[in-house]
Amino acid sequence: MKLNLPPFQALIKARCGLLFEGDSGEEKLMQALQERMAALGLLTAADYHTKLLTNETEFQALVSLLTINETYFFREPEQIHLLVERLVPRFLVARGPQVPLRILSAGCSSGEEPYSLVMALMEKYGESTSRLFEFVGGDIDQTVLTKARLGRYSDFSFRGVPAAIRQRYFDTIQRDNLLKPQVKSQVKFVELNLLADFFDPALHNFDIIFFRNVSIYFDTPTRKIIQQKLASLLQPDGVLVIGTAETLANDLGVLGLTEEDGSFYFAKNPSTASGGIGGVLMRPPSTAPAESTSFNALTSPFHAPLDVPPMLPTLPIQVLPTTQAQPDAALAQARQLIQEKRFDEALLQFDAVLTTEPDHVEVLLLKAHVLINRRDFAAAHMLAERVLSADVWSIDALVLLGLAAKWRDQITDAIRWFKQAAYARNECWPAHYYLADLYRASGDFVLARRAYRVVLQLLSGAKPDIGIRYVPLGLPAAEVRFLCEHQLAKLPTVAARTEVR
Ligand SMILES: C[S@@+](CC[C@H](N)C(=O)[O-])C[C@H]1O[C@@H](n2cnc3c(N)ncnc32)[C@H](O)[C@@H]1O
Repeated sequence: MKLNLPPFQALIKARCGLLFEGDSGEEKLMQALQERMAALGLLTAADYHTKLLTNETEFQALVSLLTINETYFFREPEQIHLLVERLVPRFLVARGPQVPLRILSAGCSSGEEPYSLVMALMEKYGESTSRLFEFVGGDIDQTVLTKARLGRYSDFSFRGVPAAIRQRYFDTIQRDNLLKPQVKSQVKFVELNLLADFFDPALHNFDIIFFRNVSIYFDTPTRKIIQQKLASLLQPDGVLVIGTAETLANDLGVLGLTEEDGSFYFAKNPSTASGGIGGVLMRPPSTAPAESTSFNALTSPFHAPLDVPPMLPTLPIQVLPTTQAQPDAALAQARQLIQEKRFDEALLQFDAVLTTEPDHVEVLLLKAHVLINRRDFAAAHMLAERVLSADVWSIDALVLLGLAAKWRDQITDAIRWFKQAAYARNECWPAHYYLADLYRASGDFVLARRAYRVVLQLLSGAKPDIGIRYVPLGLPAAEVRFLCEHQLAKLPTVAARTEVR
């Protein structure tokens, strides 16, 4: 039975900001509505709409079917590093150890994010962590909050978590991993609707808010409203950390964008951000464009997220059973799944295609790209090599080999692959950009400067064919230009010293 969706779309967007548009979004909404109506024995959409307006429990049940709760421990570790090594030490000095620092994970899903923050800080501050910090996790979806409070996880939540951390903070019970009480007891989980008019008293006066991989589900006006609400939950010198991929799309003039060591965050008070709190102020709140364009992985390869980011906005999709997958449809779905960072499901789609077409170049390359996101660099390398052995001029394969090497800290190899890509196609500015960041990180500022300039030059010309056919690198040209200019402005003094020596 087809339902009239607009009243439901409007209600859900107004209440919790989520968008269900386009074929896949509408299909997901339709299925959820049908499931709830069947559970309640309701026959008309009008009856169910009335029920949603009058019954909060039912609205919650529907929301639970609609939210995308993908998460895992130590996701985007470079931002956790920023927290532990930069933000927290400065806050502790500024505040003194008597008053605990308050840290919120907004849109915490089943708890992996706030618990990761606890574990990372316990690694540094040991038992003092419970005295120095207060952690709160908030989410609109009560089902995931129940799971978070339980602290019981399958292997699926561990992707690239070092074995030592896993052993230190988890007990294994049959096939589950039980969080140890000293971690679990530190996070208070609270129901949180980011669009609410009022917030639970537990949700105030935070020093640091992590708000990652949530804003991608909202349109720009909604993101701006939510950021204003989050700002109101921050202390006057508080900071907001948004997923790396989402950061510039959230540069909406509400908070000041700040950069530190290649990682970005927002500060409520930009003057303390660039002075007391540290970091380089990129853009004060009032001067940012009201409508920010979508933004993807731009930071240096050493700081770039492993989650190669989605183009915004992304819409939730319903996955085709792989057995029914036709190559084209499976491929289209897999691309959408990559955007939503649902990598395991994307891999299933790829494997379905590869069983019938084992040499499907696009699928091999996209699969390698996903494997890099899953930190399976060796497997990604093999797939890219396979494509390269059939086509020595595959820029996609060369760039993927460079990325896989970079993430394995094989810097010389990474430089070699990117150079090869740039040699094969000089117009491939992403290869020059990665090279520039690798040179900069290895202290070769002269070459770094040269490579950044090449990128700027290439980006200033007519749009050439950069040679990358299939892999969504997530490097929007405008933002890369901005970062190259930023790095060039920062490099000269150091570079001058290097050249004199
Ligand atoms: C993809 S998860 C991100 C989890 C975690 N922050 C991370 O980065 O791994 C997005 C979460 O945002 C929550 N969410 C969506 N809309 C929300 C809203 N209006 N208020 C609060 N949470 C919301 C969803 O329920 C979901 O658990």
